[in-house]
Amino acid sequence: MSTPAPKIITSAPEWSLESWRAKPIRQQPTYPDAAALQAVESNLRALPPLAAPNECIALKRELGLVSQGKAFLLQGGDCAESFAEFSEDNLRSFFRVLLQMTMALMYGAGCPVVKVGRIAGQFAKPRSTDMEEMNGCSLPAYRGDMVNGMEFEAGVRDADPERLLRVYYQSASTLNFLRSLARGGYAALNQISRWNNSFVSQSAQGRRFGQLIERINECVRFIEACGLSASSMEAFSEARFYTSHEALLLGYEASLTRQRDVDGKFYCGSAHMLWIGERTRNPDEAHVEFLRGVANPIGCKVGPSMTRDDLLRLFDTLNPENEAGRLTLISRMGVGQVGDKLPALVRALKEEGRAVVWSCDPMHGNTIKSPSGLKTRKFTDILSEVRQFFAVHEAEGTYAGGVHFEMTGQDVTECLGGAQAISEIDLSERYHTHCDPRLNASQSLELAFLIAEELKKKA
Ligand code: PEP
Ligand code: CO
Repeated sequence: MSTPAPKIITSAPEWSLESWRAKPIRQQPTYPDAAALQAVESNLRALPPLAAPNECIALKRELGLVSQGKAFLLQGGDCAESFAEFSEDNLRSFFRVLLQMTMALMYGAGCPVVKVGRIAGQFAKPRSTDMEEMNGCSLPAYRGDMVNGMEFEAGVRDADPERLLRVYYQSASTLNFLRSLARGGYAALNQISRWNNSFVSQSAQGRRFGQLIERINECVRFIEACGLSASSMEAFSEARFYTSHEALLLGYEASLTRQRDVDGKFYCGSAHMLWIGERTRNPDEAHVEFLRGVANPIGCKVGPSMTRDDLLRLFDTLNPENEAGRLTLISRMGVGQVGDKLPALVRALKEEGRAVVWSCDPMHGNTIKSPSGLKTRKFTDILSEVRQFFAVHEAEGTYAGGVHFEMTGQDVTECLGGAQAISEIDLSERYHTHCDPRLNASQSLELAFLIAEELKKKA
């Protein structure tokens, strides 16, 4: 059988690992010592990649299934990872919540779940202003632990390239530990009773998850009664887990990109999947230029200012071969705009026959300031944006393929509401985020149960 010849792209200009450097670039720190930055980048170029090309290809294949409506993408983690919150306990509880959400979706909706963490590299943040003023003093804005320190102090806020190496090593260690949890037995279905953690098990979501455990345990007992050993089957004993982050600091990303001999393609080895943020998605600028040339699966945020024509141009720049699983569009419209803005965009790609994963980020269009000055989000707005996202896809005859959210496994009080009814007064009690407010473990599970119900409606 002959395979169709690939589309010949005549208009795309040559790409190289350095071609982004000739384009306008946003959201980069100014390093006081440029030579020190170059030395660190050359150091990174000699280090092994964290994500292997074969794993990136496997994720792309799984996302291809999502684009066909055969699986669901669950992508979540910190807004910004930090050096201070790096611990076994935090990683384990993050992974536990992701597995719990996966089970709620798989059992509730009968749908395979592609698990991608915002983790092991999610350290750099875009900011709305370059400088921050306080008490008449002006210092560079905090851009994440990958760039500078959070304390408002002269010196601490200077961009320090040594932090890139620290991020690399923390990411390597994080990925190593998560892989050992995914592959070493912790994620096995017969271990599911161990995943319920104390503060969640007290909550309504925890009790609901407890019932789910009972039912899954019954299934496992049934499988074993049939003479099959659940622990010896990979699908029951291991989890596939991938990493992702916003590709913001292109010097770091390019330094970890390697050309694969087998196919001559370039893979960015800092994570399996990389995404382009809402502020850096201009097709004439550096971030799109860099990411169009790496073969990893990639994401791109899509906010309310996106037009139909801009989206089609962006799509064809990033995915000229219309490869399934290559591009995930992450809608982040906000609760008030998703119903107005999303349908035309979804329709445009459908009409033009573009293979896409549509995912919903119900976080970044819904950030507000509480009266005390803390950034927060209302859980009801988050749920409502997810519901409306599903309704738009239902109306357009397209597939709501995933969610992208900021969460932690810790019992923080950063988003308002949820079954624990976190109020404005409660916010400051356990507000630990280094950037945006995250869902806590119980709110994350509640979100997963809601999505399972939405998916079940369609089944
Ligand atoms: C983020 O995902 O943390 C982020 C900054 O999002 P956006 O680019 O959509 O604003
Ligand atoms: Co954020």
